[in-house]
Amino acid sequence: MANNAYRAAIITLSDKGSKGEREDLSGKVIGEILAAHDYTVTERLLLPDEQSLLEKELCRICDEGLADLILTTGGTGFSPRDRTPEATAAVAERLVPGIPEAMRMQSMGITKRAMLSRAAAGIRKKTLIVNLPGSPKAVRENLDFIIDELKHGLDILAENDGECAR
Ligand code: MTE
Repeated sequence: MANNAYRAAIITLSDKGSKGEREDLSGKVIGEILAAHDYTVTERLLLPDEQSLLEKELCRICDEGLADLILTTGGTGFSPRDRTPEATAAVAERLVPGIPEAMRMQSMGITKRAMLSRAAAGIRKKTLIVNLPGSPKAVRENLDFIIDELKHGLDILAENDGECAR
């Protein structure tokens, strides 16, 4: 049976945000979309663009089983400190390339700059980690597109539903 109340953690990567110099509007958008889809947000973090710090927090949440889904925002672009995909790939036990592929496919119809997003997704233990781009607009466009399908993946990961047939 599908469980509708999956627990989600939101991690915003932003040097400026972590210093209080920029409001975390992207994390807020993620929270709104998750709430509208019956997720319980158990944790919100605002971190500087530090790969080792992000890896540590991802491992803590996954290894202690504190969330079924972790959504990150920011740090997927080309700036030298953009390391979110590297942190995600470093801690993932299994990569999930289809999710970022789908986000880029959809987003290319909105802006060709979508090709510049290096977002990754992966699974560690029983937790799915998905990177979203940094801007609130891009977050909404990407998350709205994938959110319904995420639930089926989480059902399988939690062994709540092994059936893919519709
Ligand atoms: N995807 C969508 N749907 N809409 C956008 O506006 N912006 C792109 C891309 N993906 C965008 C998008 C841009 S301009 C960049 S540089 C990359 O995401 C990486 O974003 P980040 O560096 O903020 O993580």
